[in-house]
Amino acid sequence: MASGLTVSSLLPFFLLFLLSSTPLPISAAQCNQDDQKALLAIKAAFNNAYHFASWKTSSACCDWYGVDCDSTGRVAGLSIFQDDNLTGTIPPAIADLPYLNNLLLSQLPKLSGPIPSFLAGLKNIQLFRIMNTAVFGPVPAFLSTLTIIDLSHNQLTGAILANLPNLQALHLDHNRLSGAIPASFGSFSRDSQPDLYLSHNSLTGTIPASLSGPNWGIINLSWNQIAGDASFLFGSSKPATQIDLSRNMLSFDLTDVSFPTKLTLLDLSHNKIYGGIPAQINQVAGLVQLGLSYNRLCGEIPAGVVTAKFGQSSYTNNKCLCGAPLAACK
Ligand SMILES: *[C@@H]1O[C@H](CO)[C@@H](O)[C@H](O)[C@H]1NC(C)=O
Ligand SMILES: *[C@@H]1O[C@H](CO)[C@@H](O)[C@H](O)[C@H]1NC(C)=O
Repeated sequence: MASGLTVSSLLPFFLLFLLSSTPLPISAAQCNQDDQKALLAIKAAFNNAYHFASWKTSSACCDWYGVDCDSTGRVAGLSIFQDDNLTGTIPPAIADLPYLNNLLLSQLPKLSGPIPSFLAGLKNIQLFRIMNTAVFGPVPAFLSTLTIIDLSHNQLTGAILANLPNLQALHLDHNRLSGAIPASFGSFSRDSQPDLYLSHNSLTGTIPASLSGPNWGIINLSWNQIAGDASFLFGSSKPATQIDLSRNMLSFDLTDVSFPTKLTLLDLSHNKIYGGIPAQINQVAGLVQLGLSYNRLCGEIPAGVVTAKFGQSSYTNNKCLCGAPLAACK
């Protein structure tokens, strides 16, 4: 180099720069003593399972595995997941984390017992997720603060009870829930676009008309025994992107339904839906998945850019649907 500066002559300056830009090791974020006590009680309740190996008082509890604190050192997030050996029920000490905002208990096949009512004491909880566990029993009546609930893949039973005005997503799929969808689900947030996943349960009855209220983003009611009308879930100005009502006992006239134009997925297969396919379906330009098979639909498939995208399997096994891609109408 012409200037005479070599990489090695710059090295000391570089090191100095590195040192000055690296924050000095500050004492680990302070951890609220009451919260630490609650966490240690949770660890003890689960017999010091391997997941809690880092939960030692030699480090601040905000640094423990699966623990997140807010800026004031209060525990705001708790994630306990993926431990095949963690055995027991949801410990009461969880309710002693008053600032808890986000609770995740996931992939814990030996976590069992019901969802305890003392969790209702968590006044700041917004994200409530218990997934892929052996937790059973009813879904408790929750706090109105919740925005996201995921209780999928458990053994929950009984009817669903909830009044959740702030909800953005409710996942109760893959359980053993029975009874009808409560009319109170119609009071979910209308500002956001909540998602509703209730698939793979044993839900019966009809869909309450109040469900026409929220601006659903995704609705998945598949694999239940829900009967009656669902036409009020549709409407061309609704924002829904995915509607899966397949494998139920729904029975309504599809002829005058208009589909949300932002739909990418529409699955109504394996029901008892009758009438014809509305021509308006050809305005749902972004549709990439369509299931209308195994219903009681009749008449000519309305020719157009959208219907032409799908093969016979989207339309087959109806009462008397005809026209491409099925056989020509007589
Ligand atoms: C779970 O227990 C089995 C059998 O005792 C053991 O081999 C395995 O390492 C344990 N796993 C964890 C995460 O502790
Ligand atoms: C609805 O749920 C079923 C079963 O869980 C799943 O197979 C399907 O892909 C889901 N549909 C959508 C649109 O997510």
